[in-house]
Amino acid sequence: RNDGLAQSGRNYRAVLCTELTKPLIIRNLPAPSLQPHEVRVGVHYCGVNFADILACKGLYQEKHCLPFTPGMEFSGTVVETGANVSTVREGDRVIGVNGMGAMAEECVADQKMLWPIPEGVSYEEAAALPVSYGTAILALEHRARTQPGETVLVTAAAGATGLAAVDVAANVLKAKVIAAAGSDHKCNLALQKGAAHSVNYTQGSLKEEARKLTENRGVNVILDAVGGDVFKAALHSLAWEGRIVVVGFAGGAIPSVPANLLLLKNVSALGVFWGRYREEDFPVFSSSLSSALWYCQERRIRPHVGAVFKLEEVNEAFSRVTQRKSTGKVIISTK
Ligand SMILES: NC(=O)c1ccc[n+]([C@@H]2O[C@H](COP(=O)([O-])OP(=O)(O)OC[C@H]3O[C@@H](n4cnc5c(N)ncnc54)[C@H](OP(=O)(O)O)[C@@H]3O)[C@@H](O)[C@H]2O)c1
Repeated sequence: RNDGLAQSGRNYRAVLCTELTKPLIIRNLPAPSLQPHEVRVGVHYCGVNFADILACKGLYQEKHCLPFTPGMEFSGTVVETGANVSTVREGDRVIGVNGMGAMAEECVADQKMLWPIPEGVSYEEAAALPVSYGTAILALEHRARTQPGETVLVTAAAGATGLAAVDVAANVLKAKVIAAAGSDHKCNLALQKGAAHSVNYTQGSLKEEARKLTENRGVNVILDAVGGDVFKAALHSLAWEGRIVVVGFAGGAIPSVPANLLLLKNVSALGVFWGRYREEDFPVFSSSLSSALWYCQERRIRPHVGAVFKLEEVNEAFSRVTQRKSTGKVIISTK
């Protein structure tokens, strides 16, 4: 946080975006003093999200003033609490969600934005949960109301959100998952996670493959994080009363929805913006995180950390995701 609040006299290392689209740098920043409701967390791991990458290019829907430290989710240990903090204590293991600032050795969070890590869940696994599993759970459970036995098609199925969606749909909701991804290696990973079938959409037609795999019935639920032509092919694969959930546009192109398709098969196009629930409906937001932690503790889900980078390797970590080379969650270790 670089907001000019009183400072405690200590420094900590943080990733800094000083100029949009330029490589990120590491700087020592002065640790701010805590407000009464705030908590200082010693960060162990911070998740890398597409939103961080977009924010550092100035392309994310929420704009940040320069310079800023990216990072919207973290796992770590509580090191200090403000005077009015009652929910956590020094030494507690927590995950947290921030607008930004988590790609650093420490960060400051509102006490409301921290959730305790249950016993048996590691810091590494926990760091992979908030954005990816929170979004997957909210999209599948709250938005699409996925039922056991339904067919769920997930695109970018080996990505952070995609693999989380495969995990939750197959192993928690007991849906039949079709994983669609951009390489055979990624398809295999999604199959290992519990998908029943896979489609490599760089080689075959997603629409045709989905039709064959469902014996012409189509799929009940689609989670799409790619957009563009992948979204369009997926939309045509919906079954009667199917639901397509728009998660993101990793491919860069925002598709439009021909309204006649909605009418003809009585299908619904839904959106999900997980972070927005924080302000609009906090109980729903919070329960997506509590569910993720609970499913993980019960070993019903198993987050896949595809790569761990050091703080000073942040630019490589970002490239791994933008070059489509990542699988599961990419996280940054501060230790
Ligand atoms: N709505 C929300 O609340 C929410 C929450 C989290 C994420 N998102 C969005 O969901 C999308 C995925 O985010 P993520 O963090 O989970 O990333 P990710 O899936 O781990 O990585 C992106 C994946 O998208 C696919 N992709 C297709 N075309 C691409 C391109 N031109 N450049 C890069 N990737 C491409 C790649 O998979 P294949 O090679 O298999 O195609 C790639 O691995 C992003 O648009 C993100 O903003 C939205």
